[in-house]
Amino acid sequence: AWNMDNIVETLCAQMKQHVGNDRVILALSGGVDSSVVAALGARAIGKQMTCVFINHGLLRKNEPEEVEAVFTQQFDVDFIHVHAEDRYAELLKDVVDPEEKRKRIGTQFWKEFFNVAQQLEGVRYLAQGTIYPDIIESGARKTQGSASTIKSHHNLIPFPDGVHFDLIEPLDHFFKDEVRKLGLALGLPEHIVYRQPFPGPGLAIRIIGAVDAEKLAILKNADAIVREELDAYNKRLYEETGEHNSQHAAWQYFAVLPDVKSVGVMGDERTYARPIIVRAVESSDAMTADWARLPYDVLARISGRIVAEVPGVNRVAYDITSKPPATIEWE
Ligand code: XMP
Repeated sequence: AWNMDNIVETLCAQMKQHVGNDRVILALSGGVDSSVVAALGARAIGKQMTCVFINHGLLRKNEPEEVEAVFTQQFDVDFIHVHAEDRYAELLKDVVDPEEKRKRIGTQFWKEFFNVAQQLEGVRYLAQGTIYPDIIESGARKTQGSASTIKSHHNLIPFPDGVHFDLIEPLDHFFKDEVRKLGLALGLPEHIVYRQPFPGPGLAIRIIGAVDAEKLAILKNADAIVREELDAYNKRLYEETGEHNSQHAAWQYFAVLPDVKSVGVMGDERTYARPIIVRAVESSDAMTADWARLPYDVLARISGRIVAEVPGVNRVAYDITSKPPATIEWE
């Protein structure tokens, strides 16, 4: 019978056969897909795979440390942590336009990645966590298996002049729920396997207006509280229903830092500080989303904790708009 363990063994054998003795490089974001490729690579080819983790400083609180811990302590791959935080801070200075933020962050990502890739000796393959829906979405397999259309999808990687790697995409036949099962079978921790979607440009598009270190610190701390409380809320629902994304669980949830200040009062003092907007939606695919009808006590705890624990915040608002007409993110 085909169970997940058989599939894992088959994928490992295929990967080993595919790459032979050549080296493989992977851009590891810490998201579900690239993490599953890394775990698979660890099992199939061990240190023949180098995982490059670009830390742009825009990840959630503790996330870089968690990714590093998993792929240095638990899995046997060659792990490179690229500390690009300062370069990104400089690059994003005074940038207000969301699309400009995205563009700069994305361009720098591949620059950082290929800087490392070109320094490594004898790398032939670039592994990618492409999953089946990615291929459908990019329109690359309109006619299944057509070489020319597949290529247009692959061309999304901006190889520098004179640089070439052969692509290996071990997950390209799988849907997301199957990829999660593969991840569990490979021993990835649940916090990675059931991680919510997180945009590539990270917290930069959850800080409205220009990004700076102070705003990033506020947002990371507030966001950590939102996630902690809603992880706990989801866990309670999971225990009641046995489903990981039960109907009323929050599907994606985070904090947003708008570019305004408002008046508040603390003790005898008037404060003039920042608000935090809490965003939590129910969705299955992010195409449409309904704002999560969270219990008042959950909202109350989030609000109370944020103003008590995050310096520089004196107000918390909850976004009660669905998509459409709003989007999930604010930028
Ligand atoms: P919106 O805000 O358009 O988001 O309703 C839909 C889903 O996409 C995610 N998102 C992004 N993901 N790069 C990404 O990788 C991006 O620039 C980006 N913008 C939005 C968002 O988190 C949601 O899950």
